[in-house]
Amino acid sequence: MKVIRTSNYGEMSRTAGELIIEKIRSNQQLTLGLATGSTPKGVYEYLISDHWQNGTSYKNITTINLDEYIGLRNDHPNSYHIFMRKNLFDLLDIPLAETFIPDGTADDLETECLRYENLIKEKGGIDLQLLGIGQNGHIGFNEPGTPFKSRTHIVTLAESTRQANSRFFPSFREVPAQAITMGISTIFESREILLLASGAAKAEAVARLINGDSDENFPASALKLHRNVTIIADEAALKLV
Ligand code: GLP
Repeated sequence: MKVIRTSNYGEMSRTAGELIIEKIRSNQQLTLGLATGSTPKGVYEYLISDHWQNGTSYKNITTINLDEYIGLRNDHPNSYHIFMRKNLFDLLDIPLAETFIPDGTADDLETECLRYENLIKEKGGIDLQLLGIGQNGHIGFNEPGTPFKSRTHIVTLAESTRQANSRFFPSFREVPAQAITMGISTIFESREILLLASGAAKAEAVARLINGDSDENFPASALKLHRNVTIIADEAALKLV
C-alpha cells in the first residue's frame, strides 16, 4: 500500500481529485467505484469545480456505488441515491442511467445482491474504487468479522456504525438497521483502490490498517493483500502511524 500524507482535508481532497481526473482523462470510459460519507465530499466538490472550469466530461463514465441502506426509498433524503445526486451526479454531465447504486427497496434483496454482482461484471469490473474507512475498520458496510471472500450481501449494521451515521438522520432510531454492500471480495477485485481518511477520529483505524496484520476482524486490512492500493490521508488521521 502506498501512503500519501497530506496536511489537511482540503489537500487530501485535492490530491485524490487530481488523481481521479487524470484517470478519467486517460480513459473516458472509466468505471469508477464510489463511496458515500463525509470523507469523499471534498473530492466530489473538486471534481465538480474541475468539470465546470476545465470541461472534464463524464458522459461516457460509469459509476458503481459501494452500498445503500435497506428500507429507505431511493428518493428518501438520507438514501445514498439522494446523497450521490446532491453531492455529485446532478452537478456533472454524467447520464444517471450509467450510475449504479444497490436498491435497498428491492422485494427480493438476495436477488438484488446477485443482480449487483452481475452488473459489475457486465461493466467489465471496477477500474478505480474510492473508499472511506469506518472507525472500526469497515469498508463499504462490511463490518468486522465479514469474510474476506464475501460478495455483495445484506448486512446488519454495527451499533457503532449506526451511531456514527446518526448525524445525518433526525434521530438514531431512524438510522436503518441493515444495508446492502459490495462484499470485501467484490471490492478487492477493483483494479485500483484509493482509500481516503481524514481527522483524528480515524487515526486508530488508519494506524491499524498500515501497521497491523491482515485480519477479518478488521475489514480494511484485506487491502493489504491487494497490489494497487493508495491511501491518501491527512496529518490528523496519520498521527498514530
Ligand atoms: C459509512 C459508509 C462507508 C464510509 C464510512 C465512513 O458507514 N458506508 O462507505 O466510508 O462509513 O464514513 P465517513 O466518511 O462519514 O467517516
